[in-house]
Amino acid sequence: MKTRIEKIIPDNIDMEAIEKMGDIIKNGGLVAFPTETVYGLGADCMNEEAVLSIFKAKGRPSDNPLIVHVADVEQVYEIAREVPDDALELFKHFSPGPITVIMKKKECVPEVVTAGLDTVAVRIPEHPVALELIKKSKAPIAAPSSNRSGKPSPTKAEHVIADMEGRIDAIIDGGECRVGVESTVIDVTGSVPTILRPGGITKEDIKKVLPDVVIDKHVLKSVEVDESPKCPGMKYKHYAPDAEVFVVEGNEGRVYEKITECITNEKNKRIGVISQNGREYNAELVLDAGRDNVEYANKLFDYLREFDKHDIDIVFAEFSIEDEHALAVKNRLYKSAANRVIRV
Ligand code: TXA
Ligand code: MG
Repeated sequence: MKTRIEKIIPDNIDMEAIEKMGDIIKNGGLVAFPTETVYGLGADCMNEEAVLSIFKAKGRPSDNPLIVHVADVEQVYEIAREVPDDALELFKHFSPGPITVIMKKKECVPEVVTAGLDTVAVRIPEHPVALELIKKSKAPIAAPSSNRSGKPSPTKAEHVIADMEGRIDAIIDGGECRVGVESTVIDVTGSVPTILRPGGITKEDIKKVLPDVVIDKHVLKSVEVDESPKCPGMKYKHYAPDAEVFVVEGNEGRVYEKITECITNEKNKRIGVISQNGREYNAELVLDAGRDNVEYANKLFDYLREFDKHDIDIVFAEFSIEDEHALAVKNRLYKSAANRVIRV
């Protein structure tokens, strides 16, 4: 399949170009598009066959439900059977923006979208290109992140091209994504609003609107590790990037010392480091994730792909800054490290 690549500038959208992209979706095709979090791979949510082709293009297991993207709160009612007050509060305060709300689904939403669940995940993205694409498609857009399953989510068009060229109809190049990690997913169908995936909107943000909000225990489990492996040497199974990732977490002085020690112990390997606060290491490739976790989130997925491009064998990722956004970053970092976390 020839994939059309269309550059669209977010603050000066070419209406003719976006209309053509909307037509592709209307006709059952797949279009990758930028959002403020990561790139999405979109299809008409009501077209079962089109949605099925998303799973095929990504190599995604069919039991993992998709997020449905709508342009405004009014359109939420097209797919949600009940829109609880909590959901309305969340949309009012944080949408358009990096939050996804789980509600009871309407019958008309095909089961392939929700993997057979009776709930649907709904999000109003903030990105002007995404919003315009939804409007031009005249339908809610079902879209997971636009990466091959198991790879880091794409935050630049070049990531999408690397994973999806030849597999989908079109890719909209709308530049870099601002947030860099996927949206916060929150379920409002139970007795207490529950965060299922941490993201751009933090628990602290949500607490101001829904004081009872809790974080699902699986999220916390994914950022708790019982056993700290020492320096690498043992072969671990890995997924996500080709390189083996180790998170080195704790006080920044000790993190620096530990990574320096590990680099010395791994002489015959190509070593990469994600550093914070611009610290330097004697490694093949050192990429700086900045001074806070907003910046870390913005860079993380891009960096993981960058290490693979440079054939790095082992990546040590510093983690020494705890702030409101730490949970979202750690959740992705631990997963890409298959829970290889060295606490110092
Ligand atoms: O920022 C984002 O959310 C990006 C952009 C493209 O919008 N999308 C994204 O989609 O990250 P995806 O498919 O990679 O992640 C969707 C997450 C999955 O963890 C899925 O299990 C969960 O949302 N999800 C979807 N529907 C659900 C439902 N009905 N109940 C519980 N979890 C659901
Ligand atoms: Mg994904």
